[in-house]
Order: sequence, then structure tokens, then C-alpha cells
Amino acid sequence: MSETRLHIDAVTAGYKPGFPILHGVSASVGVGEIVTLIGPNGAGKSTLVKAVAGFVHVDSGSISLDGRDITGISPDRMTEHGVAYVPQTDNIFRTLGVEQNLVLAAQRVERDRNRAIDAMFELFPPLREHKGLRAGGLSGGQRQMLAIAMALIAGPQLVLMDEPTAGLSPKVAQEVLQLIRNIASDNVSVLLVEQNAKAALRISDRAYVLAEGRNQHEGTGAALLDDPVIGEIYLGAWRRESA
Ligand SMILES: Nc1ncnc2c1ncn2[C@@H]1O[C@H](COP(=O)(O)OP(=O)(O)OP(=O)(O)O)[C@@H](O)[C@H]1O
Ligand SMILES: [Mg+2]
Repeated sequence: MSETRLHIDAVTAGYKPGFPILHGVSASVGVGEIVTLIGPNGAGKSTLVKAVAGFVHVDSGSISLDGRDITGISPDRMTEHGVAYVPQTDNIFRTLGVEQNLVLAAQRVERDRNRAIDAMFELFPPLREHKGLRAGGLSGGQRQMLAIAMALIAGPQLVLMDEPTAGLSPKVAQEVLQLIRNIASDNVSVLLVEQNAKAALRISDRAYVLAEGRNQHEGTGAALLDDPVIGEIYLGAWRRESA
């Protein structure tokens, strides 16, 4: 078991005071671990990730990173605390060039910015290849690659990703998931939300099932994939994907 990096402890949170969406949810992510949140629509997966990223007010409970309390820190200060968030939509500037997107993201980097951008081109060769292109002109998979690069550029300890494979073909989705696996092998911790549950569980160390804003189930990716009840209730929609 790896050392705990993110610790979410009994978090109750929501968009309006007195109307919690999450009811005492707990979860953790170890160093270099990929942990996936699965569950039905409206379960609170995105809300939990947004609570960690500082976008959703936490009414009670706590969130800590490497033992430091980060509960309630504003989203714009999360970079300095080692947290990067890749939202589900609008995660790149489509009208700007690929390189310009990285230049903007690098504004938050304290060390050598050009080197940080170069490092992203090393990691994602297709971005270098298309660096002059308008970001909106990239393929779906490349757009996600750019969004992930923009998150990684500041050297985060934890990356939060909300449905990075949404709208991608199974093949490209698989490539993006593999890329996420590579990121984690660099000791970056990843908290992932995925509708594409089966494919995500295959690359995940562990996963939590949320339902109606509560912890429902948890286990290793492999154990959840093999669990007939989980398979029936939560993975059924993806049977065609593994056929
Ligand atoms: N900005 C918001 N303001 C108020 N309520 C919201 C907001 N965003 C989400 N909700 C509500 O919070 C609940 C949980 O939504 P959330 O987006 O976290 O679910 P999810 O598990 O990510 O679902 P999906 O699989 O559809 O993405 C839902 O009832 C939703 O209507
Ligand atoms: Mg969601």
C-alpha cells in the first residue's frame, strides 16, 4: 500500500448552504496511485472532485494533501498546493494556438517556463507536431492531451480529471487512459472520474463507487471488475465496450 497523498475525510459539501450533495464521503489516493470514482449520473462524482479542487464549499469534514489541510483553499491557489484540475469541458482555449495554451498554463510555473513547456512537448509529441495549430483544430484525443499537459506543466502532486475520455472513440479513450497510467508511474497521484467504468478500472489501482452522494463500495480496480453485483449495476452500460 502506497503512502497516502490525498485524504478526503467525511466530506459533506454542496452548491448551496444547507443543501448538501455529498454526505460524509471519504476517500484516499496514494502516491502514484490512480483512483477512480464511478457511480450513476448525479451520484456526486464531479462534485467530489470539485470539492477537492476548491470549487465547491465544504460544509464539514476535511481534505488534506501529504498531511496538509487544503480544505477550503480557493481554486486559484491550488497550483501552489500541488493540485491540478482538468475539468470535463472547456479545459483548453480553443481559439488560441496549442503552444499559446501551454504558455498560458506555464504562467503558474515558478521555475523555467520554457523548459516546462518543452517538457510537455517531450511527453506529448503530437502537441509539438501541432504547436502552431489552433487548439480547437486538434483531434478529440489531442485536445484531452493538451488539457492534461496544461495540468501537468506546474508539476502537481495530484491531478484531478473529470471524464477525460468523454466523447472519444474507444480506441482513443484507451490511449488517453494509457497516458494517464504513464503519468501515475511518475509518482503523480490521479483522482479520476469515468463513465467509461470498465476501461477506467483496468488502469486503476483502486476505485470508489458513489451513489446519491455517499460511499457505496470500494475496492481494487481488479476486484471491482470481477464483482458480479458491481458489474451488473454499474458496469452493465459498458459491456459492449469489452465485447
Ligand atoms: N453547479 C451546480 N449547482 C447546483 N447543483 C448542482 C451543480 N452541479 C451539480 N449539481 C447537482 O449535484 C448532484 C451531483 O452532481 P454531479 O455533477 O456531482 O454528479 P456526477 O456523479 O458527476 O454525475 P454525471 O455522471 O452525470 O457527471 C446532482 O443532483 C446535480 O444536479
Ligand atoms: Mg460528473
